[in-house]
Amino acid sequence: MEVEERLVNLVKDCYNRVDYCIGYPVCQYPNISGFGEWYAKTGLCDIATNNAGNPFGEEQLLLNTSMIERDVIKTFAPLYGVPKGQEWGFVTNSGTDGNMHGIYFGAKKLQKATGMLPVVYVSKEAHYSSYRICDVQNLETRLIDYDEYGRMDPESFRENLDPSKPALIVFAIGSTFMGATDDQDAIQKVLEEKKPIAVYKHLDAALFGGYLPFTEYKDIVNMEKRGYDSIAISGHKFLGIDEPCGLFISRKEILEAQNEFKVAYLNSDMPLISCSRSALAPLKFYWILNNIGIEGFEKEAQLMLDNTNYLQARFDEIGWPAWHMPYSNTVFFKRVPEWVRQKYCLANGFIPEYGGELSHIVVMQHVKKSIIDEFISDIQKK
Ligand SMILES: Cc1ncc(COP(=O)(O)O)c(C=O)c1O
Repeated sequence: MEVEERLVNLVKDCYNRVDYCIGYPVCQYPNISGFGEWYAKTGLCDIATNNAGNPFGEEQLLLNTSMIERDVIKTFAPLYGVPKGQEWGFVTNSGTDGNMHGIYFGAKKLQKATGMLPVVYVSKEAHYSSYRICDVQNLETRLIDYDEYGRMDPESFRENLDPSKPALIVFAIGSTFMGATDDQDAIQKVLEEKKPIAVYKHLDAALFGGYLPFTEYKDIVNMEKRGYDSIAISGHKFLGIDEPCGLFISRKEILEAQNEFKVAYLNSDMPLISCSRSALAPLKFYWILNNIGIEGFEKEAQLMLDNTNYLQARFDEIGWPAWHMPYSNTVFFKRVPEWVRQKYCLANGFIPEYGGELSHIVVMQHVKKSIIDEFISDIQKK
């Protein structure tokens, strides 16, 4: 088969399935329509760019878009309550990359302050990337039980917390399967009681971190109000970028607490784990900020949460056991027949407290009421 024909068929297949991809937190109506045309028209498509290094650091030697990357971070930072003048962060390769940096920077900051590496505390309901990263970084990790809402259980946290060592806590702000949001205030109370020698708090907000700032629940991800140190958000989830990327948002103080990594050939301090980074991803964030904007995101978030309630109501109407947690656009339910799971690209899970075998739908922007109705009618078929 000709190369061209193979690609055309591949794209056709994707287009045919796009409306039915409702089991994963990917926005199938990306927010960057027009970007490709602009990329070609400006001639940028004929230049190799690279944002290696810290976008807020020394002048980069490679052709880059760091100037735009700084604007992107400075525009997003107030939405996450970063104190004015303290904004720091960068555009990541993914939510996992953001978690990688949150855990790495947290561990190094705590080690510098206390001479000891921290113990990492993370809920058993959290995304596997956090445990995997702790494994890669060789950090002692304690998995904390979750409560009936899928949140890190404060009692289990209290029992596991070792105050003689620094504590690095990874909060799940929207866990992958149940859509649970850890209660930062409840965990803070335990910290105040047991007083570990030093604390770093990182939020894994891959999905919810995209939309919460545009809802009445925005304070959950407000750094000043909640007192966290860094947050990771995926760009290809709610924010609607067409390929994996993300945001890491933190404060200058966290950067300043890192070990120096002067690299002569780059004429720069290189605090990030990866060297080369995409120069296009910051442009895509810039594009969506200018074309969708706050109002556009508010409307999308509202639509998504309304459709989540619609899906829940349809389940309730037919008596199919289904649940969704506060602030969540993820509805999990008694497992559906395999042909339905395949048609809708659903993710399966197993949670004993909710009857064991389950599936879930993540109600992203493209999950329309008509698809929800079709799905409900399919699961009623004998
Ligand atoms: C809670 C949570 N954290 C992290 C990730 C990983 O994000 P990414 O796929 O952007 O690496 C996911 C992915 O679904 C997730 O649900």
